[in-house]
Amino acid sequence: MVDADDTEGGHPLHDAPVAPTDVGLIDGLVTTRAIRRYTDEHLPEQVLRDIFFAATRAPSGSNRQPFRFLVFRHGPRADAVKQLIARGARAIWDAKFTQDGYASGSGADAASPKARMAATMEHYVDSFAAAPVLVLPCLNRYRAPDPSEGSNVYPACQNLLLAARAYGYGGVMTMFHKEVEADLRALLDLPDATTIAATITLGRPAGGHGPVRRRPLGELVYEDEWGAAAGWAVDPPATAFTAAGPPTVAP
Ligand SMILES: Cc1cc2nc3c(=O)[nH]c(=O)nc-3n(C[C@H](O)[C@H](O)[C@H](O)COP(=O)(O)O)c2cc1C
Repeated sequence: MVDADDTEGGHPLHDAPVAPTDVGLIDGLVTTRAIRRYTDEHLPEQVLRDIFFAATRAPSGSNRQPFRFLVFRHGPRADAVKQLIARGARAIWDAKFTQDGYASGSGADAASPKARMAATMEHYVDSFAAAPVLVLPCLNRYRAPDPSEGSNVYPACQNLLLAARAYGYGGVMTMFHKEVEADLRALLDLPDATTIAATITLGRPAGGHGPVRRRPLGELVYEDEWGAAAGWAVDPPATAFTAAGPPTVAP
């Protein structure tokens, strides 16, 4: 157990306040995209510190903070973890490509959103092991597994992604670890009560990224009655929309 007093002093960042940013809170919130293409630029340690400081300010039940972040940058350990999860990424993406028919329908047109998404994913998976930073957000279970337990770790993950955006970096949350979880747990010697909640890659975005596209607000926000759009739930001017949405067939 690290005592709070033991963490003081030592590293020069101890004297560095969190760096200010030019991105306002709401601006950052409504412009944060899933970033899957990175330059090979490393994240400075101050940026890492500030991002993880923001991430770990997230709320959790009774302020227990059961989230832990395992960070991998460079070196043999990091390379092994990145390459292992890259294998999982390839398997998961290949299966999704076939299952979701990325090559058929509008996907046959290289300019379509579907084909562009497939190209982005192909590049992401191909270069996965080269991502500047890989993060495994974990949850230290303190009670039996429960469907709502993710609520103790995902707010911190979103804080992390928003903070990265604020400092000019970007990332994406994935579930690519799932395919190789047993090997990963063994490699990392994770305690039994610790579960891997996600795999997040981070880096400096390469190329441009369009606006966040979602379904119209009225489809997503109801008032008083299930399915009844709130009258005030109208999108502001110049909102971009997506055709993506939940599967129409119930599980
Ligand atoms: C719970 C969750 C799981 C996700 N899993 C993956 C994944 O396995 N692979 C991936 O490339 N992106 C994954 N994403 C990223 C989403 O695909 C992305 O946020 C979504 O398509 C919206 O993209 P945008 O934020 O750029 O608009 C995941 C996001 C969330 C929140």
